[in-house]
Amino acid sequence: MYFSFETIPAFVWAFVTTYVIYWIKNLRISRNEPPMVPYKFPIIGHTLDYLFNADKFLAECRQKYGDPFNLYVFGQVTTIAGNEIAHEIFRTDTFSMTSATRDTFPLYLIIKSLDDPETIERMIKTIREGITTKLSLYTGRMQKQLMIAINKEIGDCSDPKLVITAKENFSRMVSRPVTDVLVGQEMSKNEDVIKAFADFTKDFTAIVGLPPILSFIHPKVHSHVITLPLRFGWNPIAKHIITVKKNLKPVLEKRLKDKKILGDKYEPPLDIIEYLMNKPEYETKVITDDYLNEICELIFIIVVASIHTTSRHLTSALYDFAGRPELWDDIYEEQVRIDKECNGELTSQHINKMVKLDSFLRESLRTFDAVTAVPHRCLETFTLKNGMTIPKGRIVQTSLMDIHYNTTAYGPEPRSFLPYHGLENNFSASRTDKNYFIFGSGRHACPGRFFAVNEIKICMHKIILNYHIKTPSGKIEKKVQVGPFVSPPVAGLIFENRKK
Ligand code: HEM
Ligand SMILES: *[C@@H]1O[C@H](CO)[C@@H](O)[C@H](O)[C@H]1NC(C)=O
Ligand SMILES: *[C@@H]1O[C@H](CO)[C@@H](O)[C@H](O)[C@H]1NC(C)=O
Ligand SMILES: *[C@@H]1O[C@H](CO)[C@@H](O)[C@H](O)[C@H]1NC(C)=O
Repeated sequence: MYFSFETIPAFVWAFVTTYVIYWIKNLRISRNEPPMVPYKFPIIGHTLDYLFNADKFLAECRQKYGDPFNLYVFGQVTTIAGNEIAHEIFRTDTFSMTSATRDTFPLYLIIKSLDDPETIERMIKTIREGITTKLSLYTGRMQKQLMIAINKEIGDCSDPKLVITAKENFSRMVSRPVTDVLVGQEMSKNEDVIKAFADFTKDFTAIVGLPPILSFIHPKVHSHVITLPLRFGWNPIAKHIITVKKNLKPVLEKRLKDKKILGDKYEPPLDIIEYLMNKPEYETKVITDDYLNEICELIFIIVVASIHTTSRHLTSALYDFAGRPELWDDIYEEQVRIDKECNGELTSQHINKMVKLDSFLRESLRTFDAVTAVPHRCLETFTLKNGMTIPKGRIVQTSLMDIHYNTTAYGPEPRSFLPYHGLENNFSASRTDKNYFIFGSGRHACPGRFFAVNEIKICMHKIILNYHIKTPSGKIEKKVQVGPFVSPPVAGLIFENRKK
């Protein structure tokens, strides 16, 4: 094609026109839609309020426009669902979290099997059957791994020691029990594998962690640009998958061989790789590279769903504890009593008896202060019970603040920390509820929540038994708020051995 400088403006015009048309079309909102909150500047819309003042802004809109309402953020109309509407969104399969997070968290570029909807179903089934129902059998092993982790990451604190918690520092602590459960006791001794699992999510998020500024042009432009390097084969996290594959191969081969030699006498180890190998769809006679890939991809999807989330909330709960001296004795007492009762060897009954710790953790999760929960995309035009319609393709954000800071459920000061609210009302930390959405709700509620809560409780139980924990300032440390997102504080935690 003949190409000159004159053709460039033509391209620019074509480009601009396309997007203006797109933009106008996108803003033509049908009559039955949730009300659009007015805004001053075209294109920018509510983006700045959403980025810099999300909590207050959403609360004001909720007051003026009810639930739900529409905002114009990052060049897209977004529906915000609150306390009344969110349940309807979470209850139906018409709204999909996987579809909504595909562009901002394009893991499918690295883990190809994520493009197959069956993979997700298989993973959820694996978590339910392989982890949740077997949780009591894993308790001893989780305790052992967490003790190794605590000794390694925190260690002897005869003199008070400031432990850095920033940059996902505790993910290695969580990675140990997860490694043990997923790939077994042989591999849980392998520091390379533990590190690969701990760092995978962090390294992936670092690649795609740009704010969606390019979405002003078109939401797709953003996802195309951030993933360009990945599309061209630059994959700095492939090394983690290679590490795991290399170490997994001899383990799987040995198990196949043992099974063949021992026959009925083979004693299957309890872990997820064994669970998978015994499924008809994973039956094999040789461990080929394709087979390893298939197993590894499923394992890594579970790793992504589990380690980063659990370590964030463990870290945050430790800060919540360290900043509230008035709770130290009461919660410590419960842990000492249970420790004596079980002689240091926890079973799931003992974990169930940690009711104060559980209630404390629930409160830490409730007041985590993320402004919005996981987004959902509307797959087919949907009519809400109140008669409003949500068009196909729309992203619906859930206003977590509106759900978690509800005065009917949590009293006149719903933003204050109510450590024993769960205990007094018989709500456990892993139980979802209409005013407790940290694990989602409905059919797709987090299947890993029982595992996550157990891990955090065992870990906190052991830490509280062994150390005094303080914040450097002696006060409650502030979390790091970036737009509607939040991370645990980064001040560090001061640990000191308890005298026994
Ligand atoms: C404190 C830690 C965790 C938090 C706060 C958390 C939170 C969530 C949330 C909010 C959802 C979306 C639920 C919905 O759409 O209704 C979810 C889904 C999911 N989580 Fe977790 N999670 C945690 C730990 C884990 C762990 C340890 C695992 C795996 C063992 C896991 C596996 C999953 C999976 C597979 C889904 C998708 C479920 C589906 O789409 O049906 N999560 N999680
Ligand atoms: C956590 O931070 C401390 C201090 O910077 C460091 O010595 C330690 O290795 C870190 N731990 C992990 C798991 O990164
Ligand atoms: C609190 O939540 C309940 C249940 O979702 C709801 O019925 C009630 O109206 C909410 N209260 C306020 C003050 O929003
Ligand atoms: C507490 O809740 C659990 C289920 O969440 C239920 O089985 C139990 O009976 C309840 N206990 C009381 C005292 O209400």
